[in-house]
Amino acid sequence: MIRDLLGPPMAAVDLFDDPDGVMLFPEEEEHIARAVDKRRKEFTTGRHCARTALAELGFPPVPLLPGPKREPTWPEGVVGSITHCKGYRAAAVGRKSEVWTVGIDAEPNEPTPDGVLEAIAVPGELARMGELRAAGDKVAWDRLLFSAKEAVYKAWFPLARTWLGFEDAEVAINPDDGTFTARILVEPPVVDGVALDGFTGRWLAREGFVVTAIAVPAR
Ligand SMILES: CC(C)(COP(=O)(O)OP(=O)(O)OC[C@H]1O[C@@H](n2cnc3c(N)ncnc32)[C@H](O)[C@@H]1OP(=O)(O)O)[C@@H](O)C(=O)NCCC(=O)NCCS
Repeated sequence: MIRDLLGPPMAAVDLFDDPDGVMLFPEEEEHIARAVDKRRKEFTTGRHCARTALAELGFPPVPLLPGPKREPTWPEGVVGSITHCKGYRAAAVGRKSEVWTVGIDAEPNEPTPDGVLEAIAVPGELARMGELRAAGDKVAWDRLLFSAKEAVYKAWFPLARTWLGFEDAEVAINPDDGTFTARILVEPPVVDGVALDGFTGRWLAREGFVVTAIAVPAR
């Protein structure tokens, strides 16, 4: 599925289960040593997807340790993103020379629990929810909004290196063409001479999941 959202120059890999026999590097083992089984599995398969995607770009397998804010640390010259939810794992990577940043997210295609939409949506997003719901009931639009906002954070963080709350970006989902845009509502940091003031991304709803992806080409 993730490949339908991110084509070349990105490499993207997803899996619907956790294959047996996947090895972690010792330093990754050490990181995950005290985790419960669910966490160990998502971490391990996420790394497996990431290393498979890196191999497609010609990069050898290396440890991919979490940084100080849980962000995955990539080899020199690489940008990437990892997501996992029950029954789905994915990773996407690109060469820094070709891709500025990437953020991916997957969620079950099910409505969010009561109160979540109100907690994560800004007024403009809440106002558009009715229009989205009128476009069809095969997509849990509130969950898709949540996913798109998490993809925004994952694309934002490696560049900005700062927190971005759910109230700090406004996402507009296009129900017809599988795209969305995100407008950053806080003073945008300037990174590599460019104001980080928004993103465009793509989404799909399939196989019981909503998946969102942002990949910004390098300038
Ligand atoms: C970090 C966050 C986005 C992860 O999303 P999630 O739905 O909980 O979990 P997912 O499985 O999709 O993603 C987890 C992966 O995100 C990646 N990740 C975690 N922190 C990250 C960060 N700061 N920057 C980039 N990627 C990050 C990691 O690879 C992690 O997997 P791993 O720990 O196995 O390596 C979420 O927990 C969070 O903190 N959200 C609040 C910030 C936010 O979304 N703001 C919205 C702005 S509009």
